[in-house]
Amino acid sequence: MKLFFILVSFLFTNYSPSPASGSHIEETTVWGQTGHRVIGLIAEVHLTRKASRKIEKLLAGKSLAFVSTYADELKSDRFYSKYSPWHYVNYPLETRYNPANRDDAGDVIFGIEQCIEVLSDTTSGIEDQQFYLALLVHLIGDMHMPLHVGREEDRGGNNIKLSWFSKSTNLHRLWDSDLIESVNLSYTELAAELNKQLSKKKLKQFDAGTYLDWVEDSHEAAATVYASAKQGDRLAFKYSYKYNDLLFTQLQKGGVRLARLLNQLFD
Ligand code: ADE
Ligand code: ZN
Ligand code: ZN
Repeated sequence: MKLFFILVSFLFTNYSPSPASGSHIEETTVWGQTGHRVIGLIAEVHLTRKASRKIEKLLAGKSLAFVSTYADELKSDRFYSKYSPWHYVNYPLETRYNPANRDDAGDVIFGIEQCIEVLSDTTSGIEDQQFYLALLVHLIGDMHMPLHVGREEDRGGNNIKLSWFSKSTNLHRLWDSDLIESVNLSYTELAAELNKQLSKKKLKQFDAGTYLDWVEDSHEAAATVYASAKQGDRLAFKYSYKYNDLLFTQLQKGGVRLARLLNQLFD
Protein backbone atom coordinates (compact mmCIF):
# COMPACT_ATOMS: atom_id res chain seq x y z
CA MET A 1 0.00 0.00 0.00
CA LYS A 2 2.78 2.38 0.97
CA LEU A 3 4.56 1.56 -2.27
CA PHE A 4 1.30 2.20 -4.13
CA PHE A 5 1.11 5.73 -2.67
CA ILE A 6 4.70 6.43 -3.48
CA LEU A 7 4.08 5.34 -7.05
CA VAL A 8 0.89 7.39 -7.40
CA SER A 9 2.43 10.55 -5.98
CA PHE A 10 5.46 10.06 -8.25
CA LEU A 11 3.18 9.82 -11.27
CA PHE A 12 1.24 12.94 -10.34
CA THR A 13 4.15 15.16 -9.47
CA ASN A 14 5.71 14.30 -12.81
CA TYR A 15 2.56 14.72 -14.80
CA SER A 16 2.53 17.82 -16.92
CA PRO A 17 -0.57 18.79 -18.93
CA SER A 18 1.39 20.81 -21.49
CA PRO A 19 3.63 19.26 -24.14
CA ALA A 20 7.25 18.70 -23.19
CA SER A 21 9.05 22.02 -23.18
CA GLY A 22 12.71 22.90 -22.98
CA SER A 23 13.99 21.48 -26.23
CA HIS A 24 12.51 24.13 -28.46
CA ILE A 25 14.31 24.12 -31.78
CA GLU A 26 14.80 27.53 -33.25
CA GLU A 27 12.81 28.51 -36.31
CA THR A 28 15.78 29.07 -38.62
CA THR A 29 16.49 25.65 -39.91
CA VAL A 30 19.53 23.79 -41.08
CA TRP A 31 20.14 21.28 -43.92
CA GLY A 32 19.67 18.47 -41.50
CA GLN A 33 22.56 16.56 -40.06
CA THR A 34 21.73 13.65 -42.34
CA GLY A 35 22.16 15.75 -45.48
CA HIS A 36 25.55 17.09 -44.40
CA ARG A 37 26.81 13.67 -43.37
CA VAL A 38 25.67 12.01 -46.60
CA ILE A 39 27.56 14.65 -48.60
CA GLY A 40 30.68 14.21 -46.42
CA LEU A 41 30.59 10.44 -46.81
CA ILE A 42 30.03 10.54 -50.59
CA ALA A 43 32.95 12.99 -50.90
CA GLU A 44 35.32 10.63 -49.06
CA VAL A 45 34.84 7.98 -51.72
CA HIS A 46 35.88 10.42 -54.46
CA LEU A 47 39.01 11.87 -52.88
CA THR A 48 42.37 11.07 -54.42
CA ARG A 49 44.70 9.00 -52.23
CA LYS A 50 46.92 11.97 -51.56
CA ALA A 51 44.07 14.31 -50.62
CA SER A 52 42.53 11.60 -48.48
CA ARG A 53 45.79 11.03 -46.58
CA LYS A 54 46.35 14.73 -45.95
CA ILE A 55 42.79 15.29 -44.76
CA GLU A 56 42.91 12.22 -42.55
CA LYS A 57 46.02 13.63 -40.88
CA LEU A 58 44.63 17.15 -40.51
CA LEU A 59 41.38 15.92 -38.95
CA ALA A 60 43.23 13.45 -36.71
CA GLY A 61 41.21 10.56 -38.11
CA LYS A 62 37.78 12.20 -37.90
CA SER A 63 35.67 11.72 -41.00
CA LEU A 64 34.30 14.46 -43.25
CA ALA A 65 30.82 13.26 -42.28
CA PHE A 66 31.65 13.70 -38.61
CA VAL A 67 32.95 17.26 -38.92
CA SER A 68 30.28 18.33 -41.44
CA THR A 69 27.82 19.49 -38.80
CA TYR A 70 30.16 21.56 -36.58
CA ALA A 71 29.15 24.80 -38.28
CA ASP A 72 25.49 24.37 -37.32
CA GLU A 73 26.42 23.45 -33.76
CA LEU A 74 28.31 26.77 -33.60
CA LYS A 75 25.28 28.75 -34.74
CA SER A 76 23.81 29.07 -31.27
CA ASP A 77 27.13 30.35 -29.88
CA ARG A 78 27.20 34.16 -30.01
CA PHE A 79 30.97 34.19 -30.42
CA TYR A 80 30.44 32.61 -33.82
CA SER A 81 27.49 34.75 -34.92
CA LYS A 82 29.58 36.32 -37.66
CA TYR A 83 29.43 33.00 -39.51
CA SER A 84 25.61 32.77 -39.53
CA PRO A 85 25.09 34.63 -42.84
CA TRP A 86 27.68 32.35 -44.45
CA HIS A 87 25.20 29.44 -44.64
CA TYR A 88 23.11 30.78 -47.52
CA VAL A 89 22.67 33.41 -50.19
CA ASN A 90 19.42 34.91 -51.46
CA TYR A 91 18.87 36.59 -54.82
CA PRO A 92 15.96 36.88 -57.24
CA LEU A 93 15.05 33.82 -59.31
CA GLU A 94 15.95 34.22 -62.99
CA THR A 95 19.01 36.30 -62.06
CA ARG A 96 22.62 35.34 -61.46
CA TYR A 97 24.68 35.76 -58.33
CA ASN A 98 26.27 39.19 -58.29
CA PRO A 99 29.08 39.71 -55.77
CA ALA A 100 28.54 43.48 -56.07
CA ASN A 101 25.19 43.01 -54.28
CA ARG A 102 26.86 41.06 -51.50
CA ASP A 103 25.81 41.89 -47.98
CA ASP A 104 28.64 43.20 -45.76
CA ALA A 105 28.05 40.25 -43.43
CA GLY A 106 28.95 37.87 -46.27
CA ASP A 107 27.09 34.91 -47.72
CA VAL A 108 27.76 31.27 -48.62
CA ILE A 109 30.02 32.21 -51.54
CA PHE A 110 32.00 34.59 -49.37
CA GLY A 111 32.23 31.87 -46.70
CA ILE A 112 33.53 29.32 -49.20
CA GLU A 113 36.12 31.83 -50.43
CA GLN A 114 37.33 32.45 -46.87
CA CYS A 115 37.75 28.71 -46.36
CA ILE A 116 39.65 28.29 -49.64
CA GLU A 117 41.92 31.19 -48.72
CA VAL A 118 42.87 29.72 -45.34
CA LEU A 119 43.27 26.19 -46.71
CA SER A 120 45.47 27.23 -49.62
CA ASP A 121 47.73 29.38 -47.44
CA THR A 122 50.64 27.17 -46.38
CA THR A 123 51.28 29.40 -43.35
CA SER A 124 47.81 28.81 -41.81
CA GLY A 125 47.95 27.23 -38.36
CA ILE A 126 46.67 23.70 -37.81
CA GLU A 127 43.65 24.80 -35.77
CA ASP A 128 42.59 27.30 -38.42
CA GLN A 129 42.99 24.64 -41.09
CA GLN A 130 40.86 22.21 -39.09
CA PHE A 131 38.17 24.82 -38.45
CA TYR A 132 37.99 26.06 -42.04
CA LEU A 133 38.03 22.57 -43.48
CA ALA A 134 35.04 21.60 -41.33
CA LEU A 135 33.35 24.84 -42.34
CA LEU A 136 34.04 24.20 -46.04
CA VAL A 137 32.55 20.70 -45.85
CA HIS A 138 29.48 22.25 -44.27
CA LEU A 139 29.10 25.20 -46.63
CA ILE A 140 29.42 23.10 -49.80
CA GLY A 141 26.64 21.01 -48.28
CA ASP A 142 24.47 24.03 -47.50
CA MET A 143 25.01 25.39 -50.98
CA HIS A 144 23.43 22.23 -52.43
CA MET A 145 20.23 22.67 -50.42
CA PRO A 146 18.24 24.53 -53.10
CA LEU A 147 16.57 26.94 -50.67
CA HIS A 148 19.94 28.04 -49.27
CA VAL A 149 20.23 29.69 -52.68
CA GLY A 150 16.68 30.98 -52.66
CA ARG A 151 14.72 34.20 -52.47
CA GLU A 152 15.09 36.96 -49.93
CA GLU A 153 11.38 37.82 -49.57
CA ASP A 154 10.40 34.47 -48.03
CA ARG A 155 13.76 33.86 -46.29
CA GLY A 156 14.60 30.87 -48.46
CA GLY A 157 11.15 29.36 -47.99
CA ASN A 158 11.11 29.73 -44.18
CA ASN A 159 8.01 31.95 -44.48
CA ILE A 160 6.08 29.44 -46.62
CA LYS A 161 4.13 27.49 -44.00
CA LEU A 162 2.69 24.12 -44.93
CA SER A 163 2.19 20.69 -43.45
CA TRP A 164 4.09 17.45 -43.88
CA PHE A 165 2.15 14.33 -42.88
CA SER A 166 -0.11 16.57 -40.74
CA LYS A 167 2.85 18.14 -38.90
CA SER A 168 3.29 21.90 -39.38
CA THR A 169 6.50 22.87 -41.03
CA ASN A 170 7.63 25.20 -43.81
CA LEU A 171 9.08 24.75 -47.28
CA HIS A 172 12.61 25.45 -46.06
CA ARG A 173 12.49 22.92 -43.25
CA LEU A 174 10.84 20.39 -45.57
CA TRP A 175 13.97 20.49 -47.73
CA ASP A 176 16.45 20.86 -44.87
CA SER A 177 15.24 17.82 -43.00
CA ASP A 178 11.63 16.56 -43.27
CA LEU A 179 12.01 15.00 -46.74
CA ILE A 180 15.34 13.34 -46.01
CA GLU A 181 14.22 12.04 -42.62
CA SER A 182 11.18 10.48 -44.32
CA VAL A 183 13.50 8.33 -46.44
CA ASN A 184 14.21 6.63 -43.13
CA LEU A 185 17.75 5.46 -43.88
CA SER A 186 20.81 6.23 -41.76
CA TYR A 187 23.32 8.59 -43.34
CA THR A 188 25.68 5.69 -44.06
CA GLU A 189 22.91 3.70 -45.74
CA LEU A 190 21.75 6.65 -47.81
CA ALA A 191 25.30 7.62 -48.84
CA ALA A 192 26.06 4.04 -49.90
CA GLU A 193 22.87 3.87 -51.94
CA LEU A 194 23.38 7.24 -53.62
CA ASN A 195 26.98 6.40 -54.40
CA LYS A 196 25.90 3.12 -55.96
CA GLN A 197 23.42 5.04 -58.11
CA LEU A 198 26.11 7.44 -59.38
CA SER A 199 26.64 6.36 -62.99
CA LYS A 200 29.87 7.28 -64.82
CA LYS A 201 27.88 9.72 -66.89
CA LYS A 202 26.38 11.49 -63.87
CA LEU A 203 29.73 11.56 -62.12
CA LYS A 204 31.34 13.25 -65.10
CA GLN A 205 28.49 15.72 -65.39
CA PHE A 206 28.50 16.67 -61.69
CA ASP A 207 32.31 16.76 -61.39
CA ALA A 208 32.73 19.97 -63.40
CA GLY A 209 32.80 23.72 -62.94
CA THR A 210 33.49 25.83 -59.87
CA TYR A 211 31.46 26.92 -56.87
CA LEU A 212 30.26 29.89 -58.96
CA ASP A 213 28.62 27.44 -61.40
CA TRP A 214 27.28 25.29 -58.56
CA VAL A 215 25.50 28.19 -56.91
CA GLU A 216 23.60 28.89 -60.16
CA ASP A 217 22.77 25.19 -60.49
CA SER A 218 21.29 25.21 -56.96
CA HIS A 219 19.46 28.44 -57.71
CA GLU A 220 17.77 26.71 -60.66
CA ALA A 221 16.83 23.82 -58.39
CA ALA A 222 15.36 26.42 -56.00
CA ALA A 223 13.01 27.58 -58.76
CA THR A 224 11.75 23.99 -59.09
CA VAL A 225 11.29 23.74 -55.32
CA TYR A 226 9.40 27.04 -55.15
CA ALA A 227 7.08 25.83 -57.91
CA SER A 228 6.52 22.53 -56.08
CA ALA A 229 4.38 23.84 -53.21
CA LYS A 230 2.61 26.88 -51.85
CA GLN A 231 1.61 28.26 -48.48
CA GLY A 232 -0.98 26.05 -46.77
CA ASP A 233 -0.32 22.90 -48.83
CA ARG A 234 -0.77 19.58 -47.05
CA LEU A 235 2.03 17.40 -48.36
CA ALA A 236 2.72 13.71 -47.94
CA PHE A 237 3.82 10.61 -49.96
CA LYS A 238 3.01 12.06 -53.35
CA TYR A 239 5.48 14.87 -52.79
CA SER A 240 8.32 12.48 -51.87
CA TYR A 241 7.52 10.39 -54.89
CA LYS A 242 7.81 13.43 -57.13
CA TYR A 243 10.77 15.25 -55.56
CA ASN A 244 13.06 12.69 -53.92
CA ASP A 245 14.97 12.42 -57.21
CA LEU A 246 15.90 16.10 -56.97
CA LEU A 247 16.79 15.71 -53.29
CA PHE A 248 19.06 12.73 -54.07
CA THR A 249 20.66 14.48 -57.03
CA GLN A 250 21.51 17.48 -54.84
CA LEU A 251 23.17 15.17 -52.29
CA GLN A 252 25.15 13.39 -55.02
CA LYS A 253 26.25 16.69 -56.54
CA GLY A 254 27.24 18.01 -53.12
CA GLY A 255 29.40 14.96 -52.42
CA VAL A 256 31.10 14.81 -55.81
CA ARG A 257 31.80 18.55 -55.89
CA LEU A 258 33.07 18.67 -52.34
CA ALA A 259 35.57 15.97 -53.33
CA ARG A 260 36.50 17.95 -56.45
CA LEU A 261 37.26 21.06 -54.42
CA LEU A 262 39.15 19.14 -51.72
CA ASN A 263 41.21 17.35 -54.38
CA GLN A 264 42.13 20.76 -55.82
CA LEU A 265 43.13 22.02 -52.38
CA PHE A 266 44.90 18.97 -50.97
CA ASP A 267 46.31 17.10 -53.95
N1 ADE B 1 17.65 33.06 -43.53
C1 ADE B 1 17.31 33.95 -44.47
N2 ADE B 1 17.39 33.42 -45.71
C2 ADE B 1 17.79 32.14 -45.54
C3 ADE B 1 18.08 31.08 -46.43
N3 ADE B 1 17.97 31.21 -47.75
N4 ADE B 1 18.48 29.92 -45.91
C4 ADE B 1 18.61 29.79 -44.58
N5 ADE B 1 18.36 30.73 -43.68
C5 ADE B 1 17.94 31.91 -44.16
ZN1 ZN C 1 18.47 25.58 -43.89
ZN1 ZN D 1 24.40 25.46 -42.31
